[in-house]
Amino acid sequence: MKQTQIIILDFGSQYTQLLARRIREQNVLAEVVDFSIKPEELKQYPNLKGIILSGGPASVYENDAYTIDRGLLETKLPILGVCYGLQLITHLFGGTVELSEKQEFGKSKLFIDDLNCKLFIDVPNDKNVWMSHADHITKLPENFIQVAHSENSIAAIKHSDKEIYGIQFHAETTHSEYGAQMLANFLFEVCQANKDWYVKAFIEKAITDIKEKVDNQKVILGLSGGVDSSVAATLISKAIGKQLTCIFVDTGLLRKNEGQQVMETYTKNFDMNIKMVDSSELFYENLKGITEPESKRKMIGKLFIDVFTDEARKMSKDAKFLAQGTIYPDVIESSKQGHTSKTIKSHHNVGGLPEDLGFELLEPLRDLFKDEVRQVGRELGIPDIMIDRHPFPGPGLGIRVIGEVTKEKCDILREVDDIFIKALHEEGLYTKVQQAHVVLLPVKTVGVMGDNRTYEYLAALRSVDTVDFMTATASHLPWDFLDRVVNKIINEVKHVNRIVYDVTSKPPGTIEWE
Ligand code: XMP
Repeated sequence: MKQTQIIILDFGSQYTQLLARRIREQNVLAEVVDFSIKPEELKQYPNLKGIILSGGPASVYENDAYTIDRGLLETKLPILGVCYGLQLITHLFGGTVELSEKQEFGKSKLFIDDLNCKLFIDVPNDKNVWMSHADHITKLPENFIQVAHSENSIAAIKHSDKEIYGIQFHAETTHSEYGAQMLANFLFEVCQANKDWYVKAFIEKAITDIKEKVDNQKVILGLSGGVDSSVAATLISKAIGKQLTCIFVDTGLLRKNEGQQVMETYTKNFDMNIKMVDSSELFYENLKGITEPESKRKMIGKLFIDVFTDEARKMSKDAKFLAQGTIYPDVIESSKQGHTSKTIKSHHNVGGLPEDLGFELLEPLRDLFKDEVRQVGRELGIPDIMIDRHPFPGPGLGIRVIGEVTKEKCDILREVDDIFIKALHEEGLYTKVQQAHVVLLPVKTVGVMGDNRTYEYLAALRSVDTVDFMTATASHLPWDFLDRVVNKIINEVKHVNRIVYDVTSKPPGTIEWE
C-alpha cells in the first residue's frame, strides 16, 4: 500500500516549507508543488488525501493574481487554505476579500465560534495564533460559515457540507498555540491520512527517485566533508553505487587530518568512489600578499571553482549529473526573485560553476531542513562524529587566519584548533555549543616561558550558543576548562604564547572574524 500524502500548493509564503515540515513531523508525507497543477496531474499521487493552499504575498483581488485550476475544487479531496489560501477559497466561491484597515502582524487571540468544527478538536478557546496579513474577508461566500474570529477579522471558515476549510493564521509557526493540533486535526480527522512518513520512507523514496532519474548515467559530486554534501553523497551512493564519483578538493585550508578522515569514512564505510585533489600549493601561492577578507574570500572561491571545474570537465564526457547537498535553507537564501517554487533559483553549493559544463542538477535534499538532513544521515549510518560537526565555512581556515594566509600559519592554527575541539569533545561540551573554533591573529606578543622571553603569535578561542546562526552569544565555558585548554596549547603548540577568549555576541560581532 502506497503512503498516504498531502500536497501543498505554493503561493510563495515564507512559511510554505515550514508547513510541509510540520506535516512530516506528524509522520505524513507532504510535498510542495506549483499552484498551477491541473486536476488530471493529481494521478501522480496515488494515495493523495488532501490539498493545502499555502500563504503568499499577493492579493487575490489583483489582476492576474495567482490562482488554482477550479477543477481542483471538484475533486472531493479535503482542502485547507492558509492565509492567502483562505482568501483564494473565499474569492473563488464568490465572497469578498479587501485590504484591511487594521492589519494583523504578530500574535492575535483566536476565538472559536464553532466548537464542533473538526479543526478545533482538543483546541482550547482564547489562545494566541500567528497572523501576518494585510487583506481580510469582508463577505463570506455562500455555503461557508465562520468557525473562528480574531479581534479584527474572520480567522477561520468552513464549507457547510464539503471538507473545505480556511484559516487566516499560520498554524505552522510555533507562535500559534495548538497550531500543531489544528494541523493534526486536518490531517487525521478531516483527511484520514495515515502516520506513515518516516525518515526510512524518505530514504526509500529518494533512492527510487535517484535510480529512476539517473538510470545508467554517471554522477559527480563535490564532497566537502560537511554534513549536507556527505549525506547527499551517501544517499546517492546507496542508490547508484559506483556510478557516483565524489571530488574532494584539499585546499590546504582544512582542519587537522580532515582530508584523511573524510576519505577514510566514506571510502571504508561506504565504499564510495572519491577523487582527492590536492590543490593546497595552488591556494597558498595565490593567497600570498592578500590580507583583505573579501579579497581572500573571492580568491578562495575562484580557485575552488577553477579546480572543481577542471575536474568536472575531465569527467563531463562521462557524467550527466552534478549532485549537490543543497538543503532548503540554501534554496531560500539563494532565492533572489519571484514568489513561487517555480521561480526560486537553484543554489550552487560550489557557487558559480560555469553554465557550459552542461550537467543536470541532482539535489535529493533540497526540501529538507538541517535537522532532517542529520536524521537522514544517522539513518544511513554516517558516524555521529561526522553528523554532529559544527558548521565550517566554505573558505575554511582562510578566514580564520587573520590577514595573510600562509601554510605555516595554517599549520599552527590546525594544531591549536585540534586541541580546543578535542577538549570540548572529551569534556562533553562539544554538542552543548553550536560552533567552536580558533582564530589566529597576525600579531605577536611578549611572554615568558621558563626563564626565557618569548615573542610569538596570539590566538583567540571562539565558541557560540545560537539557534539560527543569525544571532549568537558567546558560550559560558567553564573557567577551569578554558584554563586546561590554554595550558595544553601553550605547552604543545610552538609559536603561540598567548590565548584570548572572544566574548562578543552577534551582533555586533559575527561568528567568524572575517
Ligand atoms: P557569520 O560569521 O556571518 O557566520 O556570523 C554565520 C555562519 O555562517 C558560516 N559562514 C560560512 N559558511 N561559507 C559557508 O559555507 C562562507 O563563506 C561562510 N562564512 C561564514 C559561519 O561559520 C557561521 O556558521
